[in-house]
Amino acid sequence: MPETTDPVGVFDSGVGGLSVLREIRRELPAEDLLYVADSAFAPYGDKPPGVIQSRAAAIVRWLERQGVKLIVVACNTATGVAVDALRAGTTTPIVAIEPAVKPAALQTSSGIIGVLATAPTLASSRFERLVSSYGVGVEVLEQTCPGLAEQIDKGELATPFTRSLVERYVRPLVERGADTLLLGCTHYSFVAGVIQAAAGPAVRLIDPAVAVAREVHRRLGSLQLLAPADRSGTERFLTTGTPEQVQPVMARLWTRRVAVERLAPESVAAATLLR
Ligand code: DGL
Repeated sequence: MPETTDPVGVFDSGVGGLSVLREIRRELPAEDLLYVADSAFAPYGDKPPGVIQSRAAAIVRWLERQGVKLIVVACNTATGVAVDALRAGTTTPIVAIEPAVKPAALQTSSGIIGVLATAPTLASSRFERLVSSYGVGVEVLEQTCPGLAEQIDKGELATPFTRSLVERYVRPLVERGADTLLLGCTHYSFVAGVIQAAAGPAVRLIDPAVAVAREVHRRLGSLQLLAPADRSGTERFLTTGTPEQVQPVMARLWTRRVAVERLAPESVAAATLLR
């Protein structure tokens, strides 16, 4: 039986999911958080769905073995291609992130919204369903952003090359009339300022990370698994890549000293099926 003091597991391909972890920490100061960056396989955006599914399943299985009480898929790409299979294969509750099409469709004045996301997210049937359910009456412009998540994993948040990539991806959306842009990849939160600068002040950015953190709160509450409010939560960071490379970037994005442990790839061996 899960206990209230068990950790919450959170994962992404790399450092992007820290933008979700940050909101979970703000929302839930008493929870212990266990973050896995699958850096050895990042970016997910250029991988076939089968590889992403197998990586996500392997990480979920590993998190289960650590005794987490809830898992957060802090990766739109893993949600898009794998979350149904992940939910079918585990009894651990899963909260996932996906582009905020519904709020964007409600808020747009021009009737045109732009979605910045990876190719597998935009190609997923889950995203197609999201648009057909909530994007009715609005035009949804889809924009993949090759190379952008890699820049963020390298810690290159505002270099000339990162800015030029952002301009290349964002400008056409604004020129076509989008007044609302969805951050459909958790990495992009860390370049929200650069995206806003490229889009101009009249364009609204929507990041679903806060809503995900609230959903984690709500789910833990309804499962009666919220950690006692009188404790301070801890964080543990792991990477399947090279901790020496990942640590400085994580420390910068987390804005605190962090220790990053290596999660040996053999501990998260590829798994296509959870059970
Ligand atoms: N951060 C991820 C997402 O939310 C994936 C980025 C990548 O690895 O390509 O989609």
